[in-house]
Amino acid sequence: MVLGCANVANVSATKRIAVIAGDGVGKEVIPQAIKVIEAAGAAVELTSFDWGADRYLSDRVTVPPDGFATLGRDFEAILVGAFGDPRVPSNIHAKEILLGMRSKMDLYANVRPVRLMDASLCPLKGIEPKDIDFVVIRENTEGVYGDLGGVFKQGTPDEVAIQEDVNTRKGVERIIRYAFEYCANNKKIDGSPQLRVLMCDKSNAMTHAGGLWQRVFKEVAAEYPNSKIETQHMYVDALAMQMVRDPRAFDVIVTNNMFGDIISDLAAGLQGGLGMAASGNLHPGKTSMFEPVHGSAPPVAGKNIANPFGAILSAAMMLAHLGMAGEAQKIEAAVLDAVRQRKTTADIGGALGTREAGDWVAQKVSSR
Ligand code: IPM
Ligand code: MN
Repeated sequence: MVLGCANVANVSATKRIAVIAGDGVGKEVIPQAIKVIEAAGAAVELTSFDWGADRYLSDRVTVPPDGFATLGRDFEAILVGAFGDPRVPSNIHAKEILLGMRSKMDLYANVRPVRLMDASLCPLKGIEPKDIDFVVIRENTEGVYGDLGGVFKQGTPDEVAIQEDVNTRKGVERIIRYAFEYCANNKKIDGSPQLRVLMCDKSNAMTHAGGLWQRVFKEVAAEYPNSKIETQHMYVDALAMQMVRDPRAFDVIVTNNMFGDIISDLAAGLQGGLGMAASGNLHPGKTSMFEPVHGSAPPVAGKNIANPFGAILSAAMMLAHLGMAGEAQKIEAAVLDAVRQRKTTADIGGALGTREAGDWVAQKVSSR
């Protein structure tokens, strides 16, 4: 399927994008993101892949042979919806596709921007949009997600389950360096510089892993002696509290896979819930993947009520990553208008369906 080739002046500049809508609400929100990408006139060629629960249930294939190699070779970016389906209780397909993409394609930096578009979306009192503008940079390939471990004496009273937390020097160093580079090279929405990199761990209890993160953080920070970047550290429990008490305190947060998973959901709660949260799974120089942070949400799926903005904002992130900053800005501005004018789904206060909210944003983008 080839879509959105209109307005392409220079065909060689067209970016090839793999689209995997996946399961549940992924199938509803991704078409909205595609509509908006097309409305922005982005020079892209989109190819859909049917990976997900339906495919798995029909032929037991989660990722076809060479699937990841094809994505890495033939596409500049991947736009993903969500995976997870109650008909596959183990969700083995979700694990193999989503976590497989992250680890086998070595997409080591999970970048989750947290921005409040309108004060009404934040559950905290007295918080304005300018108060919440930070990013969670989550290590995306190791930690407890490495799936190392096992069970012993399963089903007996003596059962033992071990889940290893893998932290490699290389993995820790590259994500921390990514965070410093991000801090140095990205501005806040209001144009002010990012000032702080905060490393979050649990080194008071997890001494081996935490010790490595502590040492590497100090070493990498020392490589930026002339920058104005301030370095900070917080234990993850304290960070969770602080994020709720004063979200103004953050610019760039870097942490491991598990803590990043948890605090990015907490952070999403500050910006209007999971429906608003966008993300990129990146490895500079490689094919990167963009996805809304919400999952497949089975109870919500198929009702035209899922918020499409997380997917649309993820598409904008993708376009910005591919060098289409103008298109990305147009899309973000249109979503901001939609939020302010309540042209949204009910989760963030509007009365529109998924499709109608997508239509509104697409219409706004094409009129800009
Ligand atoms: C996320 C999700 C995934 C994760 C799940 C679906 C495995 O919660 O992208 O944050 O834990 O990484
Ligand atoms: Mn998560």
